[in-house]
Amino acid sequence: MIETFKKDVEEGLSKTSKTLPSKYFYDSIGDQIFIKIMNMPAYYLTRAEHDIFKNQTEKIIQKLKLTPNIFFEIIELGAGDGTKTKLLLKELIRLEYNFKYAPIDISENALKNLKSNLNKEMASLEVSTKQGDYFEVLDNLKQQKAPKVVLFLGSNIGNMSDETAKIFLTKLSNALNKNDKVLLGVDMIKSEHVVLPAYNDKEGLTKSFNMNLLDRINKELEGDFNTHHFEHLATYTQDEGIARSYLVSKKNQEVSINTLDQKFSFIEGEKIHTETSRKYNDAILEHLLEETYLKITDKLMDSNEYFADYILTKI
Ligand code: AVJ
Repeated sequence: MIETFKKDVEEGLSKTSKTLPSKYFYDSIGDQIFIKIMNMPAYYLTRAEHDIFKNQTEKIIQKLKLTPNIFFEIIELGAGDGTKTKLLLKELIRLEYNFKYAPIDISENALKNLKSNLNKEMASLEVSTKQGDYFEVLDNLKQQKAPKVVLFLGSNIGNMSDETAKIFLTKLSNALNKNDKVLLGVDMIKSEHVVLPAYNDKEGLTKSFNMNLLDRINKELEGDFNTHHFEHLATYTQDEGIARSYLVSKKNQEVSINTLDQKFSFIEGEKIHTETSRKYNDAILEHLLEETYLKITDKLMDSNEYFADYILTKI
């Protein structure tokens, strides 16, 4: 893990346009900041998807075309704290569906908390957690023959470039059997007046989320980033539909990372690209699905039409 982190940091900071992968936001501090982000009013994504799960649970279940007496598996990629998923699981239990829930997350800690919380709230629910990277976990899915519903919520796919998302969706499609379902939650393209504040909040939570990446390099790789010498920048254009976050160097400076035995220089105004948060519409998603055997079979939206949970069916 630390070796990949080292390699990724070294590669990213050696490029002409510097980058750092957003997956490294999520250490225990980053997890805590992200929970605060999800609770802030400007971060509309969480509430919009919650609205769908809360008000359209029955419709989701109906569109997934599940059969109550046939055992199936619900697999969640990047489960987090499971707040939205619980609404669905509770309803399925109430309706006496026969299933098990398999949350997958990179964070062992998040999985442990989720499992104990679910055991408390839904004693009859069978939960089997799996720690790992989703790309790797997908390889083992096909062996299980029971019908599957894969949940990939929260617009987590938005952190992937379109190229990576295509590869990911192809792998996912290959891991499924005919009529298996994917519930894919994505943030829709909308005005910058709504999107930008979600990534540039006044409280500065997104800023500290972004800066935590530098703190983490300082702690884990013995770096000497001075976070006061960088600022947080979020950009978005509705035409393209992609929000991006950067850390911008406030001055000419040099940063040492001891475990890499390297120094990296920054000129004033130089940016490190730290996150891509893609927004979608039907055409973009259809394009990403072109070479897969997944078809859009339904779409559920919140009352503002900010967010969509697409139901994809393996053909
Ligand atoms: C969890 C990837 C969906 O891109 O909106 C929140 C992460 N980054 N604020 C997103 C995030 C900055 C989030 N996702």
